[in-house]
Amino acid sequence: PADGPLAGRTALVTSGPTHEPIDPVRYIANRSSGRQGHAIAAALARLGAAVRLVSGPVAIPDPPGVETVHVETAREMLAAVEARLPVDLAVFVAAVADWRTESQAPTKLKKRPGAEPEPLRLTLNPDILKTVGTGSRRPRLVVGFAAETADLLANAGVKLAAKGADMIVANDVSAEGGVMGGNANTVHLVTAQGVETWETMAKDAVAEKLAQRLAAMLADKDRP
Ligand code: C5P
Repeated sequence: PADGPLAGRTALVTSGPTHEPIDPVRYIANRSSGRQGHAIAAALARLGAAVRLVSGPVAIPDPPGVETVHVETAREMLAAVEARLPVDLAVFVAAVADWRTESQAPTKLKKRPGAEPEPLRLTLNPDILKTVGTGSRRPRLVVGFAAETADLLANAGVKLAAKGADMIVANDVSAEGGVMGGNANTVHLVTAQGVETWETMAKDAVAEKLAQRLAAMLADKDRP
């Protein structure tokens, strides 16, 4: 709403996986559903922000009240993000594929009877959060996510500095938790001030609470 705590603010959110084509019919991807990122985009909009969502391929609808653009690859996601700067705050929730194949075959790779398959040669994708978090058009508030299966908080702390983020939301995506694709999430907010662990709750509730927190952090930055 026009009187919400984020009225007059612009926000950018990335969500979902990326798909990195190997050939016209195959790709490298991950299990991200886009639920947490889309919920955060919707929650920021409910608080009054003008929200731009850059989504990888997902099977869920565009969030209400959010300007959504769809991309496939990490490089497309980076370009779409950069085209939507500057913004006041950005939340990078997308599970971007770390690697793509060095080249994309123009025709379907064929199996050759009796022969070993050709190994795939991989190359690193751009780090979208790091590019924006350490770039000249850095939003005033930059938040990343860290999906880990081990050493969750130590890794999140390293990422906070390396990627130029104000906050890393760390979540354990070990298979037992069912976070990837599931409805609930247990998150730890890692900032320069320390770690705050929230009880397990629905992804919508995490989104609501996080949006409130980000509105408060942005208001704090405005205080003289
Ligand atoms: O390094 P890691 O992939 O664990 O970092 C996760 C955080 O960085 C998330 O916020 C994710 O959206 C972001 N990221 C990105 N571009 C990449 C890899 C990760 O924006 N290529």
